Amino acid sequence: MKTQTDSAGEHTTSAGENALTVLLLGNGSRECALAEKFHESPLLKKLYTAPGNAGTAAYGQNTALDISNPEAVGVFCASHSVDLLVSGPELPLVLGVADAVKAISPHTHVFGPGRAGARLEGSKVFAKDFMTRHAIPTAPFTVVSKGENPECAIPEATELPIVLKADGLAAGKGTLIASTAADARLMLHEMLNGAFGKSSERVVIEKFMNGPECSVFVMTDGTDYRIFPVAADYKRAHDRNTGPNTGGMGAVCPVDFADQAFMQKVRDKIIEPTLRGLREEGIEYRGIIYLGLINVDGEPYVLEYNVRMGDPETAPVLALTKSDILDAFLKTAQGRCREILPEYDSGKAVGVVVASEGYPDHAVTGRKISIDLLPDGVKLLAGGMIRNGAGELVTSSGRVCTVVGKGSTLAQARRKAYEGVCAIHFNGAWFRTDIAE
Ligand code: GLY
Repeated sequence: MKTQTDSAGEHTTSAGENALTVLLLGNGSRECALAEKFHESPLLKKLYTAPGNAGTAAYGQNTALDISNPEAVGVFCASHSVDLLVSGPELPLVLGVADAVKAISPHTHVFGPGRAGARLEGSKVFAKDFMTRHAIPTAPFTVVSKGENPECAIPEATELPIVLKADGLAAGKGTLIASTAADARLMLHEMLNGAFGKSSERVVIEKFMNGPECSVFVMTDGTDYRIFPVAADYKRAHDRNTGPNTGGMGAVCPVDFADQAFMQKVRDKIIEPTLRGLREEGIEYRGIIYLGLINVDGEPYVLEYNVRMGDPETAPVLALTKSDILDAFLKTAQGRCREILPEYDSGKAVGVVVASEGYPDHAVTGRKISIDLLPDGVKLLAGGMIRNGAGELVTSSGRVCTVVGKGSTLAQARRKAYEGVCAIHFNGAWFRTDIAE
């Protein structure tokens, strides 16, 4: 068993020559949750997190590395003998970090798809066309590109509301809903003319669907797969799902409606055709496929694919994961997903995000944070939380942390999470009060 961590985050471990040096990319509560699980693994020798945050620093060594530069990440992997690269966020994957690392540091296993597979998240147009090619249930859609006459894409009033999605990455803000044709015209005009930069030079316009949503994380080596307990996040900023869209203000795991019958449909109609489609198109895929699903009268439809785990969903999902996640990621990266025997807690977990003043528009940062003793059964996963030059804990982005409560009922887990939230203090801190209500 691993016994201790030295000041540079290196463990003594019983895994001997098989012990792993890991590079984890990202700095959100998702990465803090992953770092904590990696740290629990007897396989871990050394964890680097780039850039990391005040939470990941407790589990390994934070390192300044430009994670949007695939070659720089490849060189780091080669020079630091990294055995496993894991990208928390999508941007490095969309930019081709997996391909660069494989070329520059062939010894490094990569958990995450190459640039070709990452188009499932990096281009909404690619994802919708892929689903059409492989008969995967999703809303009907059209695509409008800059320079085309968009008028014909605006539907009749009877087909409203509609959803407009920027083709490329837009930090979770690129999806708009229009309830009138006039709104749709204006939104489309603004998107095509740079509202989300180059990302919205092409726009997917699709039918609005109504129903509860969930996040399904599928860990796959392209052939075999394992599904994590299903989660659901709360995307709107304020209580009762009002206010602007955010990256997510809280999450619950598991989700009642994602029962055996529903999940069988997800496997048959979505996961297996997706993996078959990737193979038919010659796209190697080893990592996570995150299905953003909507349940319309018991039928699952894909709202979006992502190519990484969700934030904040990862925090409650991993709180219920008992098995060794580092071992599972390594096996997936090696094409040995069928050997993974995951184990999950049968309880419930609720995550509540504590945000900075001004989030999601203009988050105020640099506010000093103090944390009281956390109650038993509560975990704090740092997000935008760093130490400044004076060693003080300060806010560094909009979603400062995710507080997770666990319990045998959702009500217990919820109560714990909110008890934990009361222990976090900084000027301007706010959170939704209705997560898991
Ligand atoms: N919570 C939504 C996401 O991670 O994309």
